[in-house]
Amino acid sequence: MCGIFAYLNYCVPRTRKEIFETLVKGLQRLEYRGYDSAGIAVDGNKKTTAEDNSNIVLIKKKGKVKALDEELYKKDGMDLEAELDTHFGIAHTRWATHGEPSALNCHPHRSDKNNEFVVIHNGIITNYKELKKYLNSKGYEFESETDTEVIPKLIKYVYDNRERDDLSFSTLVERVIQQLEGAFALVFKSHHFPGEAVATRRGSPLLIGVRSKYELSAEHIPIQYNSDLFKEGVQEKNSHNRPDNSTAVNSAGDGKAVEYYFASDASAIIEHTNKVIYLEDDDIVAVVGGKLSLHRLNSLAGEDSVRAIQTLQMELQEIMKGNFEAFMQKEIFEQPESVFNTMRGRICFDTNKVILGGLKDHLKEIKRCRRLIVIGCGTSFHAAVATRQILEELTELPVMVELASDFLDRNTPVFRDDVCFYISQSGETADTLMALRYCKDRGALTVGVTNTVGSSISRDTDCGVHINAGPEIGVASTKAYTSQFVALIMFGLMMSEDRISLQPRRLEIINGLRILPDMIKKVLTLDKKIKSIADELYQQKSLLVMGRGFNYATCLEGALKIKEITYMHSEGILAGELKHGPLALIDKHMPVIMIIMRDACYTKCQNALQQVTARSGRPIILCCQDDPEVSKNAYKTIELPQTVDCLQGILSVIPLQLLSFHLAVLRGYDVDCPRNLAKSVTVE
Ligand code: G6P
Repeated sequence: MCGIFAYLNYCVPRTRKEIFETLVKGLQRLEYRGYDSAGIAVDGNKKTTAEDNSNIVLIKKKGKVKALDEELYKKDGMDLEAELDTHFGIAHTRWATHGEPSALNCHPHRSDKNNEFVVIHNGIITNYKELKKYLNSKGYEFESETDTEVIPKLIKYVYDNRERDDLSFSTLVERVIQQLEGAFALVFKSHHFPGEAVATRRGSPLLIGVRSKYELSAEHIPIQYNSDLFKEGVQEKNSHNRPDNSTAVNSAGDGKAVEYYFASDASAIIEHTNKVIYLEDDDIVAVVGGKLSLHRLNSLAGEDSVRAIQTLQMELQEIMKGNFEAFMQKEIFEQPESVFNTMRGRICFDTNKVILGGLKDHLKEIKRCRRLIVIGCGTSFHAAVATRQILEELTELPVMVELASDFLDRNTPVFRDDVCFYISQSGETADTLMALRYCKDRGALTVGVTNTVGSSISRDTDCGVHINAGPEIGVASTKAYTSQFVALIMFGLMMSEDRISLQPRRLEIINGLRILPDMIKKVLTLDKKIKSIADELYQQKSLLVMGRGFNYATCLEGALKIKEITYMHSEGILAGELKHGPLALIDKHMPVIMIIMRDACYTKCQNALQQVTARSGRPIILCCQDDPEVSKNAYKTIELPQTVDCLQGILSVIPLQLLSFHLAVLRGYDVDCPRNLAKSVTVE
């Protein structure tokens, strides 16, 4: 799992220094996708000719992008002020899957010592061993331990054995990807094709930003689809009937100045342009002479395809850290707005109607189903746990919640009359995506709940809800969780609209949602108090988080946050299970957080509290305001405003998000980039 960024300027003079800066900035935006090493490939000082066998320069460095940035300026013989009228540079930030983090294993990978072809890759090539064996037998020598390296070797092999001299760069790439199995987004550069770029994808995300002062008119973009994707309130998709193999797209060219930005996601592009093209699986895009053309793998000769240029409505400011110390902290504090954005245009508080545009056409079918299966990984799985009870209540259907990896391991029986939900912030998580394919093959209706427009899950599902939380950069998920939570509750409300007996309950929840952003603001004012609790706890080794019912998911999610970014041991414990094991851990030294809210589990939670205090435990308790019964047994309390029971988990998770943030800062760790983890896990 890695980040891809590439930049092509055509008839737009840029100094080499400016090109470096653009590439490095692009990588920095993508660093959340992986950050153990980074590299770039650019043209060297020499003039590019086919005879010049050493023109492409590779610079690679272990560590974060900052380390690469410093390395760039140390490189001998690079004229930083040289102005390049047309140039193509590629860049990559890596998260190791095959081979340890090192400069050798980091991308771009090359075909040979002369760097004839260089490539950046996101994904995994599953048949790389066979390809490597074959290429070895043909005399190609490998220098890294990666799966990726077979790609540049293979393209050189195809090039060296071409039957005609005039084969285009994109034809070479097409021949290469015919041989590849697995998942990839790839961008190629070659000194045989100076100033040209070829990019392609299958299973890993890739989009292209286009900037030109010439209008990118409808003439260049014959067919528009998905053009509403980013408009407020109508984020649902209609991407299932898109055109294939249609006429050609020329976005610019003919000596007209144009710049292209290739990236794994929009956050790296938005500061340059809001005009983007999302690639589909097996699209091959080539830029030649400043003109962009796109064709499909195995399409008939000369047949090109069309992808609409879409306009991103995302603001650069949405992805900047602002005055916060870390993206995670910013994202925690954004929750009043992100949760509001999830509801915007969907809940009418005057009529108490809830309409999720992406689901409404499938509602009848969903209502006829036999059960709901809600599938995810990590935090997204916890959003499923958090809403299971209310979904059972509002839909009156059995609801299974599943960790995607375990669901697949079990070969779980799935039927045509099941409805399967895939919860994923990124929309790219490999296990979740595989579970989606598994259920699709068995005929179930599939519903995506993602935060990433154009992601694989949002495209491959039959219908879906976009949670609209805005880009989440911190690896530890926060605002996506609360928005997933709200999206699933809205689904329950939509399903129960015509159930007369459920109307009072629906009304109560809708009223709770109406004031939810204000309630979240109140919880955020507890930040100072939570910081003071972190001051006491940060040197501890372990932290237990206990609760039950609607707040059990908060325990799991709170413990996950603590593990992810503070590296402390932490466990979310179902309070009902206390006497079946965890009680053995309790003594006056063990830090314990308990969640005791005024809901149906209140009395049972108080029993758990008694059990803890009887073993000299000194719990910090998250409870409702003015609860002397609970407070008198607490070492400390964090008092939260009370809301409807099924929404309380949205409020109770926030103090734990804040606590984990402060603990990580106090322990001196990089909050946004925890060791060994990545934001988007696109490998099994
Ligand atoms: C990774 C991230 C987690 C995230 C999980 C699922 O483990 O570090 O923060 O919850 O993947 O990701 P998804 O994008 O599918 O929600």
